Amino acid sequence: MLKTHTCGELRAEHAAQTVTLAGWVNRRRDHGGLIFIDLRDRFGLTQIVANPQNEAAYKVMSDLRSEFVVQIVGKVRARPAGSENPNLETGAVEVEATEVKVLNAAKPTPFYINEESNVDETLRLKYRYLDLRRERMKKNLVLRHNVTSFIRKYLSDKGFIEVETPILFKTTPEGARDYLVPSRVHPGKFYALPQSPQQLKQLLMVGGIERYFQIARCFRDEDQRGDRQPEFTQLDMEMSFVQRDDVMNLIEGMFTALVESVSDKKILHKPWPRFTYAEALEKYGDDKFDIRFGMEIQNVTPVTQGSGFRVFDDAECVKAIVAPNCASYSRKQLDELVELAKTMGAKGLLWAAVGGNTEVKSSFGKNFPEEKMKTLVRNLNAKEGDLILLVADSSSAAGSVLGKLRVEMADRLNLRDPNVMAFCWVIDFPLFMWNEEEKRWDPSHHLFTSPLPEDIPLLETEPGKARGAQYDLVCNNYEMAGGSIRIHDRKLQEKVFQLIGLPWEVAQERFGHMLEAFEYGTPPHGGIAPGIDRLTMLLAGEPNIREVIAFPKSQQAADLMAGAPSEAESHQLKELHIKLADGV
Ligand code: AMO
Repeated sequence: MLKTHTCGELRAEHAAQTVTLAGWVNRRRDHGGLIFIDLRDRFGLTQIVANPQNEAAYKVMSDLRSEFVVQIVGKVRARPAGSENPNLETGAVEVEATEVKVLNAAKPTPFYINEESNVDETLRLKYRYLDLRRERMKKNLVLRHNVTSFIRKYLSDKGFIEVETPILFKTTPEGARDYLVPSRVHPGKFYALPQSPQQLKQLLMVGGIERYFQIARCFRDEDQRGDRQPEFTQLDMEMSFVQRDDVMNLIEGMFTALVESVSDKKILHKPWPRFTYAEALEKYGDDKFDIRFGMEIQNVTPVTQGSGFRVFDDAECVKAIVAPNCASYSRKQLDELVELAKTMGAKGLLWAAVGGNTEVKSSFGKNFPEEKMKTLVRNLNAKEGDLILLVADSSSAAGSVLGKLRVEMADRLNLRDPNVMAFCWVIDFPLFMWNEEEKRWDPSHHLFTSPLPEDIPLLETEPGKARGAQYDLVCNNYEMAGGSIRIHDRKLQEKVFQLIGLPWEVAQERFGHMLEAFEYGTPPHGGIAPGIDRLTMLLAGEPNIREVIAFPKSQQAADLMAGAPSEAESHQLKELHIKLADGV
């Protein structure tokens, strides 16, 4: 090794030892004849001091600049009394340099490494290798490592084995576009990168593996968001001979232990609450939501009905939330809120501010009977100082807008404690969602999710009413995991293919191997896949998953550092039997 100790290691008890350290110059300071540098490596910082009496070392130290890579031999000594740095783990000591060697010089960096100043993300991504030297990224990558090592140990102890599955495979639909890889050997044919190892893990169950997991890379060509990347990582799991609760309990136990082991976040509810999909939509307007605060959506249609106010009477439904302590909003603030609701998809937003003596000031009071207003306030349990926000629309549209507004108001009121993780389960999803554009049923999870056993007969009569044996894990407004008990019977799988309008030949071509496998003794099985990036993001308190990925893609799905995607050489395209369309 080019070092005897790391830069985070030396303490008072090392005093008088001669050590060799190597790392980056974090900062250099000249102080009345002495030169100091903070030497940095992944493990910490150590103060190095050069004395003019040691001419050679002093000379090299004088020429050091930030981010030079150096090796230093020197003697550890206690810092003079009063100059210790209690904020630094090595703050009790310094190393007096006797030899200093530059291992590599560095140009001035495009941004400071040694301070957490705000740097444009494009620049950070272009120079990601420099960004990784900064404290924030380093901390996040260490956390991510702690998360995956915890999981590996926990699951191994419970009898799971980690199995790698191929990246060059066949379409494994999870609702996004596939990334395709052209085959040189098979002209005109393509591999699809797996959107998840879904089929492969089920085939591992057919293969008798029984308890599988993988820290698996998944690929989805879909629009980017803060919580989405084109390639991301799942903890992919599958178990044989299990029912829904077995998988859910395993995850609940593991995540609880994990959060408590790798972070100081608090888990809000134990055991985790469970909501049916219908309840989730009713209370929160979405199947991913935040239960760190109340402000649930309430249906007030029974009160607003027949009021004579057209906006209410003409709508399928009127829903409301009550924002505490917001009745004092000014006219301007209220107008802005209405505009904001419109950007969230609302046709309009109505408000009512509850004052003293049950006096209500509202945007619709002129058109709404006073008695009804009183009932509205009472039914909503609104108190003096509360602001009632109402949306009149279809049930789902009103819910969706108020669901977003609920989160917005909670942010304004500081009700979303970042140190709290509020996990909950959503169950009893409909197996299918009606796709109005294509006039067909789409699977609400994926093709392989089993209906609840008692709902199987509904596939023949009312497929829209059949519930899936699916479970989603939600935390702090993010979907953290999705899973289900799978179909393991060929006939049932074929029925689902038929219901979603997959022609028999296409089903055969794409999934024939699955159907065939189901004829060779397939155990009942089920699994789940938590997103590792999203989980680490929440544990790290970061606003998006790019902050917990070493080399993420930009919002436009590009690698700004290496410049990917990039054009292929014409001979490569020829080998792959590909001709680009005119104008590309
Ligand atoms: P699903 O599609 O719900 O299920 O994905 C599971 C979890 O993966 C994470 N995730 C993502 N993270 C970052 N970027 C993305 N583009 C992205 N897409 C999904 C989320 C999500 O909850 N095969 C099934 C699982 C199963 O049934 O076992 C599946 O992939 O955290």
